[in-house]
Amino acid sequence: MSQKISRAVIPAAGLGTRLLPATKSQPKEMLPIVDRPAIQYVVEEAISSGIEDILIITGRGKRSLEDHFDYSIELESVLAAKDADHVIDALRKIAEGADIFFIRQKEPKGLGHAVNCAHKHIGKEPFAVMLGDDIFLSEPPALQQMIELYQRRPGVIIAIQEVPADQTRLYGIVSGEALTQDVFQVSDLIEKPDADKAPSNLAIVGRYIFPPEIFQALQQTTAGSGGEIQLTDAIRKLRGEVPIYGYRFLGKRYDIGSRLSYLTTNIELALQRPELRDDLLVFLKDLIGEKLPTSLT
Ligand code: G1P
Repeated sequence: MSQKISRAVIPAAGLGTRLLPATKSQPKEMLPIVDRPAIQYVVEEAISSGIEDILIITGRGKRSLEDHFDYSIELESVLAAKDADHVIDALRKIAEGADIFFIRQKEPKGLGHAVNCAHKHIGKEPFAVMLGDDIFLSEPPALQQMIELYQRRPGVIIAIQEVPADQTRLYGIVSGEALTQDVFQVSDLIEKPDADKAPSNLAIVGRYIFPPEIFQALQQTTAGSGGEIQLTDAIRKLRGEVPIYGYRFLGKRYDIGSRLSYLTTNIELALQRPELRDDLLVFLKDLIGEKLPTSLT
């Protein structure tokens, strides 16, 4: 029998080296996408997927993450004096959607090690893992789609997406057999293979659902790609014990892990905001010297 998924783990302990110097003294998960930190999109997706309990795995220098999901009494008193109660309500909402807990990964030993830090908190329940630098926008939310699949097919569920051959070295890659148009039975997984070693171009992207057996597999996993304990290697150990499904979610994924993708994500998501769209379009077209459509002049 499958169980309800009410808990999510968000690993946010990475050093964000690809976005230095912006991430020198600020977690990459706190970098703004339009007007809110990246991690807030992930937390909002979790809450709208029915998650009630979120554990964020942090590391050194990540205190601002905790402050963001807390009340800010000093800020609220300034806003109250300005009669900005609606702003206070909006800020409080950030802190109230779910129970949010924090734990530190004491050493940077990789994603698998970070997820294993959640063991005591999660116990023996199935749970979701959501990577903080992947933003998914869709209706229904990507995680909700995966939870629905888990109810029909309990096991490990991994969000997957096709990537160009020259990008397999940036992702975990799965191979297997298509069961339906969207669901794959995964038979093998490999972390960050070069194009000539990749068994397919189906990449693992930042959403997973795990049964509690993953913790045992993580404890037995030794350092792999990049000298780190890899989540992909632990999932590989569960083959034959638990069914592993790859799920091609409906919707769009925005990766904020590199300079270019961080910038394009900001532009694309700003264009989706009705209050910003028209003025931003005018600016962009002006910048590249394109003639404006008459509706916007
Ligand atoms: C991690 C995982 C990898 C996955 C990727 C998705 O890698 O180890 O399997 O494909 O996230 O973004 P990272 O990007 O943290 O190096």
